[in-house]
Amino acid sequence: MTVLDIPELALVALVGVSGAGKSTFARRHFAPSQVLSSDMFRGLVADDENDQAASADAFDALHHVAGIRLRRGRLTVVDATNLQSHARAGLIRVAREHDVLPVAIVLDVPEAVAWERTEARADRTHGRPVLTRMRRDLRQSYGRLAREGFRKVHVLRGVEEIDAAEVRYEKLF
Ligand code: GTP
Ligand code: MG
Repeated sequence: MTVLDIPELALVALVGVSGAGKSTFARRHFAPSQVLSSDMFRGLVADDENDQAASADAFDALHHVAGIRLRRGRLTVVDATNLQSHARAGLIRVAREHDVLPVAIVLDVPEAVAWERTEARADRTHGRPVLTRMRRDLRQSYGRLAREGFRKVHVLRGVEEIDAAEVRYEKLF
């Protein structure tokens, strides 16, 4: 079992390609109200969870709600791919504004696994090249996360390690 130590109050960024299992992991380990997903916010602002053109507005709204939650002292999990520095920078900024520790949990599954899952889903229509690009972004992310300001970077490699992970909360004081 891999134990993921997370401060009681943190901004948790899930990081992983589409099909890595971020939303599944979030459902398993956190309460629905603690999880802010990019899909949910695209749906809220555009009535379409897959409307990529709505992403800028969706993330604006997501960051806003995350900030309010952190101000209120509520642990918040961001379920989005978070594969690019500029996307993560928005989360680091919100966490800093509220003096909350940003934590990353990387879910790394083989590309073949992510692709097999993607093909089985009706709600994902991107092609394999998009997934390959996400894998490249993921590889680049490894060296960057700590430097960007994530105070803890937990990496779960492979389906078994992801399955066996448990979250443990650290008292802040
Ligand atoms: P995006 O939202 O597209 O970025 O993907 P995601 O990382 O949120 O993946 P999600 O959790 O939606 O999982 C994708 C698919 O894989 C879903 O159909 C899940 O049911 C399946 N899946 C996720 N985790 C597991 C797992 O541990 N085992 C198995 N067998 N299937 C899984
Ligand atoms: Mg998801």
